[in-house]
Amino acid sequence: MSEGIDQPDQAEKLTGGSTDLFSKFDDTIAMRANLLASGVEDPFSLVMEKVLSPTRAICNGRDTILLGTYNYMGMTFDPDVVEAGKQALDDFGSGTTGSRVLNGTYQGHKECEDALREFYDMDHAMVFSTGYQANLGIISTIAGKGDYVVLDIDSHASIWDGCAMGNAEVVPFKHNDIEAMEKRLKRIPEGAGKLVVLEGVYSMLGDVAPLAEMVRIAKENGAMVLVDEAHSMGFIGENGRGVCEEAGIIDDCDFIIGTFSKSVGTVGGFCVSNHPKFEILRLMCRPYVFTASLPPSVVATAATSIRKLMHGSNKRAHLWENSKRLHSGLTEMGFTLGTDEPQSAIVAVIMPDLEKGAAMWSALLQEGLYVNLARPPATPANMTLLRCSLCAEHSAEEVETILQMFQNAGKAVGII
Ligand SMILES: Cc1ncc(COP(=O)(O)O)c(C=O)c1O
Repeated sequence: MSEGIDQPDQAEKLTGGSTDLFSKFDDTIAMRANLLASGVEDPFSLVMEKVLSPTRAICNGRDTILLGTYNYMGMTFDPDVVEAGKQALDDFGSGTTGSRVLNGTYQGHKECEDALREFYDMDHAMVFSTGYQANLGIISTIAGKGDYVVLDIDSHASIWDGCAMGNAEVVPFKHNDIEAMEKRLKRIPEGAGKLVVLEGVYSMLGDVAPLAEMVRIAKENGAMVLVDEAHSMGFIGENGRGVCEEAGIIDDCDFIIGTFSKSVGTVGGFCVSNHPKFEILRLMCRPYVFTASLPPSVVATAATSIRKLMHGSNKRAHLWENSKRLHSGLTEMGFTLGTDEPQSAIVAVIMPDLEKGAAMWSALLQEGLYVNLARPPATPANMTLLRCSLCAEHSAEEVETILQMFQNAGKAVGII
């Protein structure tokens, strides 16, 4: 193994006989070693030597179609977005070197929050350094000891970590199960603080939550509601506000969390809300206060991108076409997909096991296609998935080429 991370003799020398705190990683080390011993390329350390566009990069010296970037709206190479970043670098320098509550709030951070307020038509917007930190910060700050967080069992790691950090009682329910959610809500002691946390699109299978019903039930049971729209912002809903908009319940959501690392095309996270006391979170929320703010070039690209996404209906329509075509093409070839119908820009292909999944991932890369290989514990029900995320910049011809690549790789590996 290139980096010597699974050499037990070396580990013993290093620890000098004391309990090795790394022994808890042994199963994962063995899994990785077995995978590489089967001769496949490491699916978790691919290097993109050059990125040519939102849909193409050079990987291993070869022009590769990207189908696993979450770059749904293809904003990373938008000329206005790139220009805004360059200008901010010139005008404000490379970084803020400080927290938002000290020296880290520049004009660009305010403009980015203005763009978000306008995009969602909400009173307040707070920008974090990542989406992970937005969930970590908001959930841990509003739901503390003695409060209850009712959440979908398939929630993103940042949601679970936010619950753990806040020390709230965590009450998970079966994925997208409205009745199970209601039952759990009704069991919470009278008078306790309640937060229901949902996602618009669940990123592993690409399925959408039944938000209209869930939010109604949460409200009837006296809970506040937070919806993570990481994988739906920019794409789903008439104005790209997400599944909340599509379901007509955006005004019933107390908090919407999002990220700049997907449709917006850069890095960062945010929370928008109409709560009248929202601004106090800027002083109370540790993952906002105790970390440096985003660089000026990043907030400038984010603000420009968000403003352009408001007018992205043509791109949204094309992305739906791409998603539908990929979903129907793969189904016709005999692949098993995560959803019966296309519900988002994510199409998940279910693999029989990790070995076959890695072999298929490798065969696709040989064909010139990059997808994400996802495995437990990130995936539900111990599944191995090839996750495809489409981009509005994939042309219809590119989608046909992608389907041909799946056919070739699937036959070579013996999956179809
Ligand atoms: C549902 C969900 N929430 C939050 C995040 C975190 O976003 P970020 O990449 O900005 O940290 C992700 C990222 O994958 C996500 O899928």
